[in-house]
Amino acid sequence: MAKSEDYFKGKTLFLTGAASGIGQATSYIFAREGANVICADLDGEGAERVAKEVDQRGGKGFAITCDVMSRDQVNQAVNTGIDHFGRIDFQFNNAGSAIRRSKFLDIDDELFEKTYDLNVKGVFYGMQAIVPHMLENGGGVIVNTASMAAVRGGGGHSIHYASAKGAVVTMTMGVAREFVRDNIRCVSISPAAANTHFQDISTDELKQSMTNDIPIGRMADPEEIAEVVQFLCSDACPYITADTIKISGGGGFR
Ligand SMILES: NC(=O)c1ccc[n+]([C@@H]2O[C@H](COP(=O)([O-])OP(=O)(O)OC[C@H]3O[C@@H](n4cnc5c(N)ncnc54)[C@H](O)[C@@H]3O)[C@@H](O)[C@H]2O)c1
Repeated sequence: MAKSEDYFKGKTLFLTGAASGIGQATSYIFAREGANVICADLDGEGAERVAKEVDQRGGKGFAITCDVMSRDQVNQAVNTGIDHFGRIDFQFNNAGSAIRRSKFLDIDDELFEKTYDLNVKGVFYGMQAIVPHMLENGGGVIVNTASMAAVRGGGGHSIHYASAKGAVVTMTMGVAREFVRDNIRCVSISPAAANTHFQDISTDELKQSMTNDIPIGRMADPEEIAEVVQFLCSDACPYITADTIKISGGGGFR
């Protein structure tokens, strides 16, 4: 929640990965608070569906089809969003995936590169597109989706992905520090396993073993992560920047 009443009303969030899971839940939570939500996703139909639902839930939605692996498409999406709503106050660089599970010795160049293109370059392009706009506007908040995988290493199934999310944590810290005096806060979130389509690539056995490792005993619901994203964008936490906020169900590991 924000410190000031109606803090999000009329303010604008640009987010990627809006068509599903954590991004969809975040879109709806910002809609609940009366925000404008620019829903960007590779899945254009899904983005349209979520943007329409944002309209129904008290916000104003705007859908954009965008592949975050393309610098041109990310620049265009951000600029189109600015043209539409006049400005962007918050950016949530959230699109990401482990692509597929793989043991370390089976990670080939293609998997490694695609994982970094999506999870690292996608965030890098997003931040490079928005920072000049935020500097011009006198500030803003950027939230990037990392993962508890970054502190666990992903051994056995996801080292490609865990290391990419480690880069997100580090890049977030660097951007936060470079622009700390410009009223731009930049934070990352590190969720444990969450109940979304992200887990479609996990076998039942892997899902069970991940759940067993989470002290709270279950995966997170996407809404439980989205509420934290909104808090981080709010005026209630001006001292939080650079850090990764763990949403880990008790440490995320035993
Ligand atoms: N679900 C989990 O267990 C979990 C845990 C930690 C971190 N995360 C991270 O959370 C973020 C959101 O994932 P989710 O759990 O909501 O998964 P999800 O699969 O439900 O949603 C991911 C969304 O990203 C979109 N997307 C994929 N590739 C894209 C691209 N190239 N350009 C634009 N959009 C693209 C998809 O279309 C989808 O709408 C990801 O960065 C993921 O790595 C997920």
